[in-house]
Amino acid sequence: MPVQTTDAAALQAYLDTAVALAREVGPAFTDGFRRTGRFAASSAFAAEAKLGNEADCVTAVDRYIEEQLFARLRKVYPTHRFVGEETTAESGDDYAVTDDPTWVVDPVDGTNNFVHHLPYTGISIGLAINREPVVGVVYLPVLDELYTAARGLGAHLNGAPLPIVRPPALTSPTALSQCSLIAEHGSARSAAVLESRLGSFKRLLLDKEHGGACLQNLRVMGSAAYDLTLVARGAADMYWECGPHAWDFAAGAVILREAGGALFDGAGWWGADVPEHERRPRPFDMWRRKLLAIRHIPDLPGKPGSGRALQKQLAAELLAVVQDVPYPPDGRH
Ligand code: IPD
Repeated sequence: MPVQTTDAAALQAYLDTAVALAREVGPAFTDGFRRTGRFAASSAFAAEAKLGNEADCVTAVDRYIEEQLFARLRKVYPTHRFVGEETTAESGDDYAVTDDPTWVVDPVDGTNNFVHHLPYTGISIGLAINREPVVGVVYLPVLDELYTAARGLGAHLNGAPLPIVRPPALTSPTALSQCSLIAEHGSARSAAVLESRLGSFKRLLLDKEHGGACLQNLRVMGSAAYDLTLVARGAADMYWECGPHAWDFAAGAVILREAGGALFDGAGWWGADVPEHERRPRPFDMWRRKLLAIRHIPDLPGKPGSGRALQKQLAAELLAVVQDVPYPPDGRH
């Protein structure tokens, strides 16, 4: 097995490259969003439905930015691998997942928001080494929010450390009912998927008298990468979704972890044949398309490790209420 360099200096260099590239393609992204400059001609813009599904769309901007990013990355790192939403999805998802350094890119995450002029949309650039995400940049050009992180080097928003809200202002939810959750509708719209997902939403929102979790709130923001940054900032307690791909998760996963957040496999237990004593939140694997993210929770005074324990407890509470939606994993393993 090849030994991959993941020391701090190497990770910082990868991060610097990713930040420079995100900034470089930012103006094209904003031109696309505003239909100005290179994307002024509206005919060059039309959103196309992928596989005939209008909910899952792609634009000329997605393709242009992915091409630009990969061309530049290939010049700097000719031996690395590349997985991108547009090139990979359009080539039928058939790629090998290896230990080699692999750039995992979504040129426009939240394409649906992008098309409808909702600015919660951005460029997601992740680097995985030994199959694990280690560098992440999520850049929202319209809002000018640049989220950056590398393993062991912390997470930042426009240079300020994450989470933005810190103790003592950052308090700890002690039960699911005190949490704000971000979830998504995703683009799969079959009756079976909708029934499962809406059933999970209903149980999460339903009052306790009727057996629900009575969650404090549930938000749908429209971009998996942005959702992860919101949890990393401390602007939401949790984000749960089954269905996105590695390019939606890779960069945000690093940012969330480096902000003290926790990531788990998002496959829910509701209706599943998992005995009570085996219901432990499992580790997150970004290639498996299921994620539960929990924000940083500070330790209680004099109780080291209590924040981590609470993250696990909240994860277990949520996973007991939501139902798994089966998806084939990304890539060949
Ligand atoms: C989508 C967004 C959305 C999530 C979908 C993703 P895209 O990515 O992240 O929030 O629910 O599962 O596919 O298509 O806009 O890059």
